[in-house]
Amino acid sequence: PAAVPDILSPEFAADPYTAYRAMRDTAPLFHHEAIGSWIVSRYEDVERVFKDKASEFTTENYDWQLEPVHGRTILQLSGREHAVRRALVAPAFRGRELQETFVPVIERNARELIDGFRHAGEVDLVDAFATRFPVNVIADMLGLDKGDHAKFHGWYTKVVAFLSNLTGDPGIMAAGERTRVELAEYLLPVIQERRNAPGEDLLSSLCTAEVDGVSMSDEDIKAFCSLLLAAGGETTDKAIASLFANLLSHPDQLAAVQKDRSLIDRAFAETLRHTPPVHMIMRQTAVDVTVTGGRIPAGATVTCLIGAANRDERRYTDPDTFNLFREDLTTTNAFSAAADHLAFALGRHFCVGALLARAEVRIGVGQLLDAMPGVRLADGATLTEQGLFTRGPVSVPVTFTPVR
Ligand code: HEM
Repeated sequence: PAAVPDILSPEFAADPYTAYRAMRDTAPLFHHEAIGSWIVSRYEDVERVFKDKASEFTTENYDWQLEPVHGRTILQLSGREHAVRRALVAPAFRGRELQETFVPVIERNARELIDGFRHAGEVDLVDAFATRFPVNVIADMLGLDKGDHAKFHGWYTKVVAFLSNLTGDPGIMAAGERTRVELAEYLLPVIQERRNAPGEDLLSSLCTAEVDGVSMSDEDIKAFCSLLLAAGGETTDKAIASLFANLLSHPDQLAAVQKDRSLIDRAFAETLRHTPPVHMIMRQTAVDVTVTGGRIPAGATVTCLIGAANRDERRYTDPDTFNLFREDLTTTNAFSAAADHLAFALGRHFCVGALLARAEVRIGVGQLLDAMPGVRLADGATLTEQGLFTRGPVSVPVTFTPVR
């Protein structure tokens, strides 16, 4: 439709939110020819696709989106197979294992990174912290050698570039496929070692996990680790950067969080609503489906715009305003970190790492605020967002008074 700025235009890249509003109002369901996908933007429609009570949607689209770089991951699976595979990996990301084994890993990794700049009085939080912290945490959770973290970070960068490669740049695609081979060459021998001598780490948990007589093959474990790079790395990276960008742009809310650290959870939830790391999630229709009065044929690709749904004025009051005190956003379940926004999706594929992400944000942001009294945006700096599938600030340069 003419009134809606196109998803592939520079105007959209600079500010998708204006286009999202136009889509919700005038074209809540339309087919985008160039992308080859139906587009859904209202909260209740995206929620309905994710919850998918009638099994109308599959994740078959991930066979071409994720398979070349990761291999077969739980995101591609459905039904009983998905439920069992998910039950194999889920315990490591919640409860006792998260609290006792991995919280200390998160605390250590936050401290190590912050030690690198705590005396400087100035830092770019994206470059020095956000892009490093979640990947270091995953590498450390897996129990990989510290000396290999840089290598792991290199694979992370290539996987992320592959997944956001909208134009199909052949160099980026080749690098992504090479990463799949290199990660396998690196991880498969380590997986063998853990099978022989399990330790207190995520890789060992994955090697020994068993549900209904099913366990994970070496290739399953490798694919899952590869998925974690993108699913657990880039997302948490952008969440932390956006959370700081939002607080620095609202000094009164920053002051409130500085005074009361229990507000970090609310700042996180509101950031995920207002500026979600993942803006688009795709599904494929299993049958003919009716959405918001329109008909989508079986076998079609459907793009759910989380970034648009989370700012639907039919769902939230004053949706474009960042307000961690808003009353129409609550964390509905303390054990799942599910809040009533769609940033972690919903239903079968609801983010399995949501509690881990919340723990990383609580600890990482808490330590940063402790180390950076008087933190503010560096003089003359402006905050610019970048990305279509995933989105976050390019940089967050700040100054602060170093603690003596
Ligand atoms: C699934 C977002 C952090 C691991 C998802 C999905 C979303 C999402 C939207 C659903 C994908 C779909 O339905 O197609 C986020 C955000 C995060 C975050 C916004 C941070 C703020 C993490 C972390 C991990 C993780 C820290 C683990 C280290 C996963 C996995 C799935 C998933 C394995 C697939 C679940 C399944 O297929 O059943 N995440 N995620 N995520 N996430 Fe996260």
